[in-house]
This record gives sequence, C-alpha cells and structure tokens, in this order.
Amino acid sequence: MALRYDLLPMADYVKAKKLFWDPEAIDLSEDVRQWPELSEELQLGTLRLIAGFYRGEIAVTEDLSPLLFAIRKEGGHLEEEIFLCTQLFEEAKHTEFFDRWLGTVVPGVDLNEVAPVGPHYQFVFYEELPRVLHQLHADQSRRAQLEAVATYHLMIEGVAAEAGYATAYLSLKERGLLPGLVKGFELIQRDEARHIAFGHYLADRIIRDEPDLLPVAKAQMRTPSPHILSLFLFSQLEVIKHCINMYETRLRKVEEALTGAATPEAAG
Ligand SMILES: [Fe+2]
Ligand SMILES: [Fe+2]
Repeated sequence: MALRYDLLPMADYVKAKKLFWDPEAIDLSEDVRQWPELSEELQLGTLRLIAGFYRGEIAVTEDLSPLLFAIRKEGGHLEEEIFLCTQLFEEAKHTEFFDRWLGTVVPGVDLNEVAPVGPHYQFVFYEELPRVLHQLHADQSRRAQLEAVATYHLMIEGVAAEAGYATAYLSLKERGLLPGLVKGFELIQRDEARHIAFGHYLADRIIRDEPDLLPVAKAQMRTPSPHILSLFLFSQLEVIKHCINMYETRLRKVEEALTGAATPEAAG
C-alpha cells in the first residue's frame, strides 16, 4: 500500500518534520532577567495564564492516544495514524516547554496555590475531554470518533487554545515582555494550526461518509462552549470576541462537509 502524500494528514506530517523545534533550545535568560522587575499583578496574571496552558497541554498529551487506537481499529487510514504520531509528540513538547519555563523562570512556584483549577476548567479538561476520548476504548464507531475530535481538536484546540495563545502572544510581544515565552507561544501556535486542520479534515471525512452525524458534531461542540467562554470571563472584550468568532468559524467549517465546499487545506 502506497501512502497518499496528497492527503492533508500526510502533507501536515511532512510539514511537522520540516518545522521541528526543540523546547530546550529556546533561550529563557531574558525572561529570567525580566521576571523580578514585573509588577506583582502582571506576574500573577502570567502565572494564571501559564497554569491554564500547562495543565491543558498535559491533558491533551495524556488523552490523545485513544483516537489513534480507534482510527487504527477502523483501518484504512494509515496517513491519519502517521499524522497523529506527530501530534502526540508535539503535545508532549508543548508540555515540556511550559514545564521548563516554570522550572527556569519561577522555580518552586506552587501553581495550585497561585492558580487553582476552577469549575469551568475542571469540566472542559478533566471531565468532558477524558470522557469522550476514553469512550473510544470501548466504542470505536465513527460517531464516537466525531465526538472526540469535536471536543479535542475543534473546541479545546480550535477555540480555547486558539483564543488563549493568540491573545497572550500579542499582548506580551507588543510590550517586549518575556521573549522566551513569546517564542514558545509562536511555535506552539504553528503546531496547533496543523492539529486543528487535522480535526476539520477528520470531522469532514466522517460527516461526508455519514451525513446523519452532522448534528452529533454540532451538539458535541455546544456542550463545552459556555464553559470555554467562561474561562475568558475576566479577560478583555477582544478575547471574548475572538473566542466567539473562532467557535462560529469551526461550526461553519463543519457544516461545509455537506455543502460541497473544498476539503480542508493543510496548515502551519
Ligand atoms: Fe499543544
Ligand atoms: Fe494541539
């Protein structure tokens, strides 16, 4: 069997190899120098932000593999399995990046003390995400795969992470603050764009095969949406607008599976 390099998962697998980066190679010396000079308010805001990203990257690293298993069981999609191997590696690197940043810039910080997990975060990352991914151990149906990809790739990566990383990146970069963290955000966003594109590709393939499943995808996207929006409740209005905009974009792209629009393009 020859691999199909024209399919999005293979095109993005090839890009992932070319765009490889190493968290260990990011220079954090300026972040270490700047940190004690930042106001207490900015330090606390940054730590809360990083706590959300760090915990989120750990959660997605730990909970991706059941989807790889389900696609393997279905059979016939080796290109998707190969792509998911890069995604799993990249999520592990994202976790490593935040772990290294915290350990280097704020060694000994207790995140549970400065940034306890709130109820909305708890629901999205520790209840709904593992629920829909772990159900794939027992049920590898397309319906179950679609629920998993709608939650993981389209809502958590495509809405929550997209809005969070984009706004955090811009706000620090504009002020010339914490350049190591900004560099990490930039590289992580590039990886995430490929993950989200894969999510749309998989949702598209499943819905084209079984059009009756479109309402399942839409319902599954609705479930975490108020909780994700609540994560940004105390952020600026632009962040909330960005979050809503991303949600509407994801929903429209999912609906396009049945309106004859082009297959999602490779990203990142
Ligand atoms: Fe990630
Ligand atoms: Fe990701």
